[in-house]
Formats: sequence, structure tokens, C-alpha cells
Amino acid sequence: MTRREAGKVIGGTAAALVLPITTRAANESSTILTRTVPSSGEKLPVIGLGTWRAFDVDLTSDIRRQLQEVLSMFVKLGGRVIDSSPMYGHAEEVIGDLSAALGIRGKLFLATKVWTRGKESGIKSMERSMALLRTKRIDLMQVHNLVDVNTHLATLREWKDKGRIRYLGITHYEAGAFTDVENIMRSEKLDFVQINYSLMERDAEERVLPLANERGIAVIVNRPFGAGDLFDKVRSKSLPGLATEFDCRSWAQFFLKWIVAHPAVTCAIPATDKPGHLEDNMQGGIGRLPDENMRRRMVEFVSSL
Ligand SMILES: NC(=O)c1ccc[n+]([C@@H]2O[C@H](COP(=O)([O-])OP(=O)(O)OC[C@H]3O[C@@H](n4cnc5c(N)ncnc54)[C@H](OP(=O)(O)O)[C@@H]3O)[C@@H](O)[C@H]2O)c1
Repeated sequence: MTRREAGKVIGGTAAALVLPITTRAANESSTILTRTVPSSGEKLPVIGLGTWRAFDVDLTSDIRRQLQEVLSMFVKLGGRVIDSSPMYGHAEEVIGDLSAALGIRGKLFLATKVWTRGKESGIKSMERSMALLRTKRIDLMQVHNLVDVNTHLATLREWKDKGRIRYLGITHYEAGAFTDVENIMRSEKLDFVQINYSLMERDAEERVLPLANERGIAVIVNRPFGAGDLFDKVRSKSLPGLATEFDCRSWAQFFLKWIVAHPAVTCAIPATDKPGHLEDNMQGGIGRLPDENMRRRMVEFVSSL
């Protein structure tokens, strides 16, 4: 059984493993933390939602009900940022369909990407994303994996001026591309950069995160669980006692709080198709966060496993 198959079997019971919000200590906040987008001053919740694989599905009635629950709960718990891409199969279409059915478009911050070569092909792709997402304006358009980045950034600047997108940015998912990412962060005026950063992929903290802070670029963190590999590392291991010091009740919250406690991070976008996991992940943005010293201890703990 693969991890994903196993997840599908146990996912339904995951909600029971996470303490419901109402059992929080009396002095613990129930509001999701926010961070400011440097280029605008807009505040965004620190936990968003990724859609790679999780939303690339055929909407049978059972899956439709499950994903509607994920999205309703996401909005109910204060979530806004949803990240997609034309690379993710049906994901944009599914998000467009379900957000229209639920009437929640106005509450969402929709981020998607352009992932093709050539100006005309890029424009066609972005028009299609808007149609699939059923929106006249995309909040954030990102150049996926830096593909034909200079061509698309020129179009994105035009689209931003016309109000078709609100923000522009670039993405990548592996440290091997960080030198290119950094060069673009230095030479272009970006609103957002999206990169991988987690307790198992920490390279971004060396230069990308300090540079984002210096240049006033918001940071979206992808692969916050290393695409799920972090859960394999801690399988059947108990949370360390230090987790109680920052209101952390699950491994997902441990991984997410470590990320969003970094001052340069704007939000993390864990992907899930399970309501129980979604609720768990949202709580990673609620309550106390670890300070710098605690973050170091968390790294040491996970490295020792
Ligand atoms: N180049 C790029 O632009 C780029 C590259 C990579 C990713 N991204 C974006 O970043 C998003 C996140 O990255 P990712 O999808 O690669 O991986 P991820 O979010 O690090 O991990 C997803 C995996 O974690 C599991 N999971 C989620 N919440 C859980 C919980 N509370 N407890 C246990 N397991 C949990 C999911 O399974 P379940 O579904 O069973 O919960 C799934 O297998 C993507 O979806 C995409 O939007 C962008």
C-alpha cells in the first residue's frame, strides 16, 4: 500500500486525532495568524491550500462532497490562499467549479501559474486558467518553475497594470534552482516568490528567505511536508514535549508552525483532499509559534530521528 493509499484509508479518522478547536486552552487564540504582503500591505492568513494531486480528480459525487467539505472548512477556519497551476490536471477546473457552487470566490485569494513557452501561448494559458477558475481577475499569477520567465514577466506586468491580476511572482520547488530564483528576485520587481522550505528541505533559509525580506517580496512555501515524506520520517514517533510550548498537537502542526514562524514567510500551502487533515493543517496557523531558539531545537529533534 502506498502512503497516499494508506492516507485515504486513515484520512477519515484523522479529524478524531486532532483536538477540536473548542478544546483549546482558554487563553489560546482561535484566530488564524496573518502576515503582510510587503508590496501592498494586504494581510493574508499564514496557512493556505495546495492543489497538486489533491484536486486533480474527476468529480464523482463522493469526491465532490469530500472536496466541498475541505473548501468550506478552509474558508470557515479563516483560509484564503489557494495555489494551483495548469500543470495540475483538473485542479483549476475543480477549484472553479466548487468555489462557484459554494459561493466562496469572494473569500479566496486565487494563485495560479503560467507554465508554457512563448508570449501568445502564455496569454492563451492564462485566459484558460481564468475561465476554469471562473474568475475575471486572478489574485496572483506566477511563472511556474521559471519556464520562459522573462517573456511571461513582461506580460504579467501588462496584466497587472490592466487589473487582470493583482500580484505577480515566480515559483520553483528545488534548491538546485535557487541561484536563478535569487537572480530574478534581484533584477525584477516581484510581489511574491514561491519556493520549497520545510524541516527536510531547509536550503531556502540560507539566501532566498533573507533576500525576500531585503527586497520586500512575499514568500509562499510549497512542499511544506516534503510532499508527505516528513510524515514517513515521524511515523509511529510521539511529538516531543516541547511541542506543548507553542500550542502544537500534531506532527502536521509541528511542521507548519516551524515554517510560518520564519519571519520572511508569508504563508505555507499544504495540499490535502481530506477534511480531517485540512482542519489539522489550519491549526498550524493558530496560537503561539516557536521562537528562534525553539525552531533550532525542532530541527535538532527531527534530525535525530
Ligand atoms: N513548482 C511549483 O510551483 C510547486 C511545486 C511543488 C508544489 N507546489 C504547490 O505546493 C503545494 C504543496 O506541496 P505538495 O503538494 O508537493 O506537498 P505537501 O503539501 O508538502 O504534502 C502533501 C502530502 O501531505 C499529506 N498531508 C497533508 N496534510 C496532512 C496531515 N494533516 N496529516 C497527514 N498527512 C497530510 C497529503 O496527503 P492527504 O491528501 O492524504 O492529506 C499529501 O500526501 C502543491 O499542492 C502545489 O500547490 C508548487
